[in-house]
Amino acid sequence: MSGFLVGRFVIGRARESSLGGRAFQLQAHALVVYQLLALLLRRRALRRRALRGLLLVVLLCVLGRRLAALGQFAAAIAHDIRTPLTSISLNVQILRRKLQLSDDDREHLDIALEELARLDRSVAEILDFAKPVKLSAEPVDVGELIETAAKGLSPVLSEKGVRLECEPALAAAPLTVQGDPMRLHQVLTNLVGNAAEASAPGAHVTVRATVADDRRVAIEVEDHGRGIGADDLPRIFEPFFTTRPDGTGLGLAICHKVIRAHGGDIRVRSTPGQGSTFTVLLPAAA
Ligand SMILES: Nc1ncnc2c1ncn2[C@@H]1O[C@H](COP(=O)(O)OP(=O)(O)OP(=O)(O)O)[C@@H](O)[C@H]1O
Ligand SMILES: [Mg+2]
Repeated sequence: MSGFLVGRFVIGRARESSLGGRAFQLQAHALVVYQLLALLLRRRALRRRALRGLLLVVLLCVLGRRLAALGQFAAAIAHDIRTPLTSISLNVQILRRKLQLSDDDREHLDIALEELARLDRSVAEILDFAKPVKLSAEPVDVGELIETAAKGLSPVLSEKGVRLECEPALAAAPLTVQGDPMRLHQVLTNLVGNAAEASAPGAHVTVRATVADDRRVAIEVEDHGRGIGADDLPRIFEPFFTTRPDGTGLGLAICHKVIRAHGGDIRVRSTPGQGSTFTVLLPAAA
């Protein structure tokens, strides 16, 4: 079981490494040159160490290529599933509009449409995760970012009976980060969505922005929901790790990938039964 889980994690990391695919290649080449030079040296201990290093680099390169190919394969399948899925969904919607159906029969079609939409979301997440993150970075006003995300999430939150509180930043000037607004919106939506999912009806989720230090801004998403158990905590950023029956387990893996591509960091504190706080650290705009 653990081998399987490690395998899934590594595949995800291999695709994530597309963010530094070129850098990885350059590093590998530099390492090979270094090891070859070391091999030419006369000292036996150094030569032996260099030979071991060389073997390791070659092994990692072969493994990296295999995993990258697997990632591309998964992305190709996900892509091919998505096209007919959209077509099925559109045709069912047309039939639903045209046919004179009893309420019972219409409900069957509604369930089919909901399931198709869920499948489409999962496939879209897999595709998104498989693709390298391309950022279109610009200065982003964090207050506006939170406000837009809150508006977009309001139907989901009201369905769950969860209230969203946005704490104004305690800073003299508006907090601005250097980032891709679409991608940061996606991260906030994922984090607040998870927080709402873990909360009981009537609870509230807080989003606040603060100055972390002179180079970084922190965005916190705090909930008072079920919290995360000690066994699960180290695994929540692994691709496909989920405890939800309808979850794909890619939300946090994508958040992590996007934030790292920004040169930022994402952290979590959680107490089972009391709640969780996710903190996103992003570079402040110059
Ligand atoms: N705020 C939270 N409170 C409690 N558990 C959480 C919270 N956020 C994440 N988790 C745990 O981490 C797991 C992984 O989260 P992630 O967002 O990656 O996937 P998911 O929500 O299960 O599915 P999806 O891919 O649809 O987002 C969740 O299934 C849940 O167990
Ligand atoms: Mg999620």
